[in-house]
Amino acid sequence: MRAQLEALMAKVLEVELKDADAVEVFRVEWLGRKGRMKDLMAAFKEAPNEQKRELGMLLNQLKQLIEERMEAASSGLQSGIASTGSGEDYSRPAGGIPMGTHHPLSVVRKEIIGIFERLGFTISEGPEIEDDYHVFSGLNFPEEHPARDMQDTFFVDREPDLLLRTHTSSVQVREMEQHDPPMRLIMPGRVFRNEAISARAHCMFHQIEGLYIDEDVSFADLKQTLLLFAQEFFGPDTKIRLRPSYFPFTEPSAEVDVYWGLETEVDKRITKGTGWLEILGCGMVDPNVLEAAGIDSRKYSGFAFGMGVERITMLRYQIGDLRAFFENDARFLDQFRGQH
Ligand code: PHE
Repeated sequence: MRAQLEALMAKVLEVELKDADAVEVFRVEWLGRKGRMKDLMAAFKEAPNEQKRELGMLLNQLKQLIEERMEAASSGLQSGIASTGSGEDYSRPAGGIPMGTHHPLSVVRKEIIGIFERLGFTISEGPEIEDDYHVFSGLNFPEEHPARDMQDTFFVDREPDLLLRTHTSSVQVREMEQHDPPMRLIMPGRVFRNEAISARAHCMFHQIEGLYIDEDVSFADLKQTLLLFAQEFFGPDTKIRLRPSYFPFTEPSAEVDVYWGLETEVDKRITKGTGWLEILGCGMVDPNVLEAAGIDSRKYSGFAFGMGVERITMLRYQIGDLRAFFENDARFLDQFRGQH
């Protein structure tokens, strides 16, 4: 009889009570003089005494359920959770509302900036829509120089001199024009390149640029600053190496790798079998760039570096596909809950 009562409860929950007629039919079927409850009461009386307690409780529950369903239907609560008569306790406090999380790019951006702030760098920002001068010419990219093709540029149709900045180095130029050394700046921002979107490239991403200009700034200062950054960010035993490279606005220039390891198959794959991973570009600010901005290159020297926030975040959390950052899939973002 117990199983029968449980099956009946499920049945009561399923019945559709669309209108007053349906409620009346339901009432007669269950509570009427010849209704099912009557039969059940009779069966209950015949049941063995030791089962009566449990069966009595179930019978009561069934009756309550029938009454609740009729009440909910008659008071017009036909839609929503209440009318499903799911037997839930509606007085129970609601579950917590899930809070948003910090985006992994924000977490990493903040951490990188924090490290440089502790070294005395201050934040500076500039416009995303720039002119040719601040993105290219002022950074020692000659007209028609093939180096301009290193960065596929989005131009503004109506105003060919305007473009979306391809790197945050444009902020360097603005700062050098406006301020005298010494300066120690960290420049985060969004940049744009005309690239097909894939797992490894996007037409919009984030960079953080650093600039330090003073008397007697040397390549050794640059190296030490970057080593300190790498060890703060990736761990105290992190090793870095500098490879010669080329940027029009720095001379000499280098690319910096961190040692990642070669132990696992994943290590081998992401480091292409070398154990090293590139994290940024850097160099000594080219004297032409200083002079163009009105800074005496015989008195002052400086270094600059630039890194991609997406790239560093992918390394930190071993994320394989850049597009995940911009799809806002809650299942992806939820993994960074608790990071600040
Ligand atoms: N602006 C360079 C880029 O976007 C990075 C860089 C910045 C290199 C500063 C050297 C110095 O690729």
